[in-house]
Amino acid sequence: MSTVQKKLIVANWKMNPTSQKEALAIFTSITKTAAKLLKVQCVVCPPFVYLSPLAKALTGHRTQLGAQNVFPEIDGAYTGEISPKMLRDLKANYVILGHSEVRRQGETNENINLKIKAALKVGLIPVLCIGEKERDDAGFYHAVVKEQLEIACQGISKAGIAQIVIAYEPVWAIGKDAQREATPAESLEMSIYIRKVLSDLYDSKTAQAMQILYGGSVNPKNAGYFLQDGGVQGLLVGRDSLNPKKFEAILKEAERLSSLPLALIKNIK
Ligand code: PGA
Repeated sequence: MSTVQKKLIVANWKMNPTSQKEALAIFTSITKTAAKLLKVQCVVCPPFVYLSPLAKALTGHRTQLGAQNVFPEIDGAYTGEISPKMLRDLKANYVILGHSEVRRQGETNENINLKIKAALKVGLIPVLCIGEKERDDAGFYHAVVKEQLEIACQGISKAGIAQIVIAYEPVWAIGKDAQREATPAESLEMSIYIRKVLSDLYDSKTAQAMQILYGGSVNPKNAGYFLQDGGVQGLLVGRDSLNPKKFEAILKEAERLSSLPLALIKNIK
């Protein structure tokens, strides 16, 4: 089974935990569980400083590593920045781009586009985060997501876009201050809309083949609902990815659902 068909479960640790010892403990637990799962690709995105020690702890495990951001140049005089090539060198395969917490600090769609191009150049898989701040009754949030996608994809070929993972993360459903949880129906609606925009930009075959994730307050209770009814092929998990018990429960739920015949999945609620 290829990686593309597996459910993709991505851990976004954000600026946590605050010690390498804790990072290693969480990671070791997660990788042990993930190693037993055949239908799930687990990706852990720690803060940059933990990539190297975690890469060393990874030997023989199926889990992959990712970063939470990157600079859009390969090398040069850019004080304080991290290049995509450095991430590859540390065995990272993925990079989260356009996360709302980075956008909040001034990240633009245009800069995200440059970062995607730089990541693709060195073979890093971008996990492009898109999502509206609010769901307005007039449906303006569609335009927000459309613009995010259109600018992020500018100048990227069909072959390039096929390498990208898209994470739909409604900002209002993220973090401990979330207004509320999103519903699988809201995720489904947006996953269809995202594929429509991509179909207009590229073609329907390309759009259908894209891997779309849902992110925002994913937990062991709702993970299965998003995977069954949310129109997505994976999840981006924040808070609950720092709790090995909860994150491993999410991984196992993804494996369980991937192992069920389709007809059965439809009947489970
Ligand atoms: P959360 O974060 O799961 O804590 O809501 C998700 C994210 O920001 O990627």
